[in-house]
Amino acid sequence: MVDWVRLQLNVDEFNDGDFGPYLHGARESGIEFTTFAEVGDSAGHRRALYDLNKTCSADIPERGEFYTYDEYVSRRIDVPSFRADGVMLAIRDGVWIGMSATSLHPAQGYAFSEMTGVLAPYRGQGLSLALKLLAIRFVRSSGYRRLVAFHHPRNVSAIAMNRRLGFVEEASGRPE
Ligand SMILES: CC(C)(COP(=O)(O)OP(=O)(O)OC[C@H]1O[C@@H](n2cnc3c(N)ncnc32)[C@H](O)[C@@H]1OP(=O)(O)O)[C@@H](O)C(=O)NCCC(=O)NCCS
Repeated sequence: MVDWVRLQLNVDEFNDGDFGPYLHGARESGIEFTTFAEVGDSAGHRRALYDLNKTCSADIPERGEFYTYDEYVSRRIDVPSFRADGVMLAIRDGVWIGMSATSLHPAQGYAFSEMTGVLAPYRGQGLSLALKLLAIRFVRSSGYRRLVAFHHPRNVSAIAMNRRLGFVEEASGRPE
């Protein structure tokens, strides 16, 4: 049994200004930011999201085999918690190079960070921080205060990324 690292962020305490320079810097370098809602929910865009998520997930420790495309659509997109405007995308020269997807759970009163991923050649430049800044703004504007994330204990980079943003260990797990 994996002892998941359960992190949460109080978005009221998050200081956007600390991370704005990462967003600004990425834009200056030619990276565009948009959402799945803005690009439009189409078969081609669902496939592009799947491909990006699958490629990035290959680096998650013990992730195992990724969903088939049909499984991904039925488990991650065609579900009530999916929000097209909660899927942040980073695009460079027309290529989707990064994502941060956040789902909303009104009954439980929290937003959940489903997946943040950056293609390997673009890592280490603050791109995940820029994407998460946009994700946190989405959470706040949706009326939620708590953003939750679960990580495999060996996913050092993802845990460090979220701690850098101010996430702290949750006292209890994701309530279902
Ligand atoms: C985790 C991931 C999204 C980070 O993306 P990134 O754009 O390279 O990260 P950033 O450059 O924005 O770095 C943000 C912070 O994360 C931490 N971090 C990033 N990469 C790290 C690494 N290899 N080792 C340790 N810490 C790391 C650092 O704290 C860093 O801030 P700092 O440089 O100011 O100290 C990326 O490594 C990835 O796509 N991994 C595979 C998918 C995954 O595991 N996703 C998370 C599960 S949902």
